[in-house]
Amino acid sequence: MLAGVSTHARPRERALALRQATAAAGRLAAALSDQAPAVAGEGLPAQSVSQSFFRVREEELSDQQAALHGVLVIHRALEDLCDAPLSGGDLALEMAGMRQAVLDLTGATAGTDRDLDPPVAGPEPGAGASLEEVWSARWLIGHQVHVLFNVCAAVAVADAAGHLRNGDSDAALLKLADATVYVRGFPAAMTHASTIPADYYMAAIRHTMAPPSVDIPLSGRQHRGYKLFRAAMRDLLSVVPDTYERLAARAPELAEARGDLLEADIVDGERHVTLAYSLVHLDRSIAQRPEGPDNAVAELRLMRHRRAAQYAPLIRFGDHYVADAVAGLRHA
Ligand code: HEM
Repeated sequence: MLAGVSTHARPRERALALRQATAAAGRLAAALSDQAPAVAGEGLPAQSVSQSFFRVREEELSDQQAALHGVLVIHRALEDLCDAPLSGGDLALEMAGMRQAVLDLTGATAGTDRDLDPPVAGPEPGAGASLEEVWSARWLIGHQVHVLFNVCAAVAVADAAGHLRNGDSDAALLKLADATVYVRGFPAAMTHASTIPADYYMAAIRHTMAPPSVDIPLSGRQHRGYKLFRAAMRDLLSVVPDTYERLAARAPELAEARGDLLEADIVDGERHVTLAYSLVHLDRSIAQRPEGPDNAVAELRLMRHRRAAQYAPLIRFGDHYVADAVAGLRHA
């Protein structure tokens, strides 16, 4: 379904293809909700202030309901992407994550583009909403795609670790590749959420994520789906803790697949730094502790460096320069 959007198309073709993908996701959501209606999320208690703000809920769902809610998130995001000025590269990464989520959640197998209808012009998405309403909605929509990718990635990484424990490395390789698609989608979804004017973020959105608008300042650290993903990554590395060289000597494909996943995780951290800089420049973050680094960018850089240092021995092109510096600081 989602494979039909060429992210290198000319602007008009890109818009039409995105509308076609939006319509296809809408049809899939309708077909899934015919089997059982969507759960009314607003009626469920939020597990955190962050969940309440970003309209995210946790609940045990049947496979059909999980597929429906995943597709609803994707449908809204595709509708927004018809207008959002996301770069072609990020659009490709976000679409790849969405496609993987549809496959994983519905249990479908990948098809070809051949059965797609030609793009047709339809009503402009978002017609009638003010630009400000579109930007505020986009902030939530991009975060919801991020959460969807976090949870799907956590499941794929946990499955990969399970397969490795059972000695099924072929199945583990497939799951690691799926997880990498999602993790490459993290910064794309983050950038999607942030394709709003920085002035608008500073003037209209930022203060809604801090007291008195909410009980506590919101930070990405509070995202429970992301914590699930980090826990799955820790578990994976406890199953395969070997250095890159040692793993490459005994299981070269596994060394490459693990490397791809870890590189994607580092790049996510790197892109977070530049994204925050674009929106808040050198301001302190709304959620920083007083004893933390000077500003949001410095805090995010630290996160990037710690991750790069941890992964340096595990990947082919490890950042040993930073790893040595971090080790030196730990000993000091
Ligand atoms: C769609 C996803 C995300 C977007 C668009 C995003 C965007 C941002 C922005 C704009 C800031 C600066 C905040 C301000 O002061 O106004 C920031 C800070 C930060 N973000 Fe994210 N972020 C996302 C997800 C996450 C996740 C999952 C984490 C998990 C660790 C995270 C961790 C942080 C940290 C540690 C900071 C700096 C200090 C703090 O707020 O605690 N973010 N992010």
